[in-house]
Amino acid sequence: MRITRLQLSWFRNYEYVDITPVPGVNLFLGENGVGKSNLLEAIAFFGNFSSPRTSDTNALVQANKPKCRIMATYLSNGQEEQIAVEIVVMPKRETRVLVNSIPSAQYKAHGHMKIIGFWPSDLEIVSDGQEKRRALIDEVTYQIDFTHSKTLYQYRHLLRQRNALLRQISSGRADKNLLKYWDGKLIELASLVQYKRKATIHRLIEIFNEIIPQLDERLSKVSIVYRMNIVDSRALQDSIARDLALGYTTVGPHRDTVGLELDRQDVKDVASTGQKKTIALALRLSQMRLVRNISGDEPILVADDIFSDLDEAHKKTVTLAISAAEQAFISSIERPKWLKVDLSWKISNGRIYRE
Ligand SMILES: Nc1ncnc2c1ncn2[C@@H]1O[C@H](COP(=O)(O)OP(=O)(O)OP(=O)(O)O)[C@@H](O)[C@H]1O
Ligand SMILES: [Mg+2]
Repeated sequence: MRITRLQLSWFRNYEYVDITPVPGVNLFLGENGVGKSNLLEAIAFFGNFSSPRTSDTNALVQANKPKCRIMATYLSNGQEEQIAVEIVVMPKRETRVLVNSIPSAQYKAHGHMKIIGFWPSDLEIVSDGQEKRRALIDEVTYQIDFTHSKTLYQYRHLLRQRNALLRQISSGRADKNLLKYWDGKLIELASLVQYKRKATIHRLIEIFNEIIPQLDERLSKVSIVYRMNIVDSRALQDSIARDLALGYTTVGPHRDTVGLELDRQDVKDVASTGQKKTIALALRLSQMRLVRNISGDEPILVADDIFSDLDEAHKKTVTLAISAAEQAFISSIERPKWLKVDLSWKISNGRIYRE
């Protein structure tokens, strides 16, 4: 899979961009603050319609503009496809997705473009809370199984409705018996979400176990442990008093945990900063290999300024992964001398030039 044309308008600091990236490695060079990460963020947005940097889509629209538009034309197994996204902030917030010029629900377009991002913030997958880990597993899952995105969307929708009902019951505006209707559906969708997450993690572990010792022998004992927060009628019954008091549902896949453990301890408490980076890197490399193996599509690789603080051995691994990709977008302040580049681009003042 590769992007043949990328157009942005009013996206972050870019007034208008229309570029034709090449197959292989596209390197974007520029000083601090010129828009390197912004450009890679736009590309990543096509993968799951969210930014790896912010949950506030307002921030993506150029200051004082009502909306932005990003469009990618890409080749997938030789077939030309196009995805356009319009993020509107005024008069009403809304994100519109068009697949080959036809409006599409976001969840239906998730994972069409398979993008694997290596971000400085990936460290948070290892060192922060569970949300980032679940998000990674869900991303990998819909990259290899389109239906996951819809299931997840339906589950979240249902959860919001159940939570609203819980609050209505607490304030005496609804009857407790109404919960039965939602609970049956919730149980069904929850088990589907978890079944798919489990299948993904199972596959990811196999690859991760091969990759991690190659990066750091001492980390070969790191294990990924998926703990499902099972929701059945018993669990819902046991939690009902608490759920009513809190006004939200406290059991279900939104409470699943993905442990990264070394000798039964959370790696975030025992691994060094460098080792945490290694684990994050191994997770991304595993994602890349899994998506390639299962979907048969070469994912597009996006790497934002990742060379700046890697040691030599890691640089080598990342360089190998980049060179193996059908297409990669790399940002850097300085030209990495060891990396074979197919086309260098220079960014300055919100403009992009071929070097
Ligand atoms: N919504 C927006 N509207 C206008 N400008 C924006 C918007 N969001 C971000 N910017 C500008 O984009 C620039 C930052 O771009 P970016 O983060 O891509 O820099 P970078 O080239 O990756 O820098 P670094 O090398 O420091 O990582 C800043 O000047 C910021 O003011
Ligand atoms: Mg940056």
